[in-house]
Amino acid sequence: MTSSITKVVIPAAGLGTRFLPATKALPKEMLPVVDKPAIQYVVEEAVAAGLVDVLMIVGRNKNALANHFDRNTELEHTLEAKGDNKKLALVAEASQLADVHFVRQGDPKGLGHAVLRAKSHVGNQPFAVMLGDDLIDARDVLLTKMLDVQDERKASVIALMEVEPSQAHLYGIASVEATEETDVVRVTGLVEKPEPGTQPSNYAIIGRYVLCPEIFDVIEKTEPGKGGEIQLTDALQTMIAGPIAGGVYGVVFRGRRYDTGDRLDYIKAIIRLASERDDLGKDLRPWIKEFAEEL
Ligand code: UTP
Repeated sequence: MTSSITKVVIPAAGLGTRFLPATKALPKEMLPVVDKPAIQYVVEEAVAAGLVDVLMIVGRNKNALANHFDRNTELEHTLEAKGDNKKLALVAEASQLADVHFVRQGDPKGLGHAVLRAKSHVGNQPFAVMLGDDLIDARDVLLTKMLDVQDERKASVIALMEVEPSQAHLYGIASVEATEETDVVRVTGLVEKPEPGTQPSNYAIIGRYVLCPEIFDVIEKTEPGKGGEIQLTDALQTMIAGPIAGGVYGVVFRGRRYDTGDRLDYIKAIIRLASERDDLGKDLRPWIKEFAEEL
């Protein structure tokens, strides 16, 4: 790993309407995946890649996030008094992971607008953006590869994943050209949620980005796009068209990803991760088989 990037922005201010009413008072990034909030997996992934300065963009339900990444001394004392060191370590873990900061978004006017809120914290250095509801399996490599590509090419880097053509209209989709490096592509165009059947490829943008700081000025000039929101995809399209700050490259990810912002994917993620765990898998796996036979 050669990158000197340490800052990561995690937007977590969306309304999470697909999970209502669970997300009425709780950010969707706080929904548990087995026994840990989705966003903690994301922060752990960031820290594993050397990104220890975390800025969360938060909305009206900020408190749950802030409390989770803060200490809970009352709970710690109670567990200490009981001598339950295992649970004590679990409680303390999130507060010790990284240096976590918070900025409010106010109105959720889109992902681009959320990223713009990080401008003064980030300054004039490249930085990462990770979506708090998009999980990349810790056994698969993505972020470190993206940081390396940013370092080598001095350009912005997005993560891409091949999706079924029928799913393309749910994503930002990239037109790409091959480079000399396997699974590293030059992005020649982007379109946010294309009309079904009109997508230029099946390469979908997933929730990991390493961006050059020039993106902030571009977002400032970006008009609301799809859904009336200020789209990060539209700002990246301007970076490509310029090209500004070296344009945009893509790293094609072929590993395991769980979109916990989608109900079906969320349920699948929990089943898969729980079935692979030492403490739950032994009992869960035979039950899944039995249950599948009943269907
Ligand atoms: P999504 O479009 O998946 O989030 O945004 P959403 O709007 O909350 O979800 P639904 O469709 O209503 O269920 C992708 C990511 O960007 C963040 C979200 O929190 C999520 O992590 N986001 C989105 C913001 O922080 N601010 C925004 O204005 C929009």
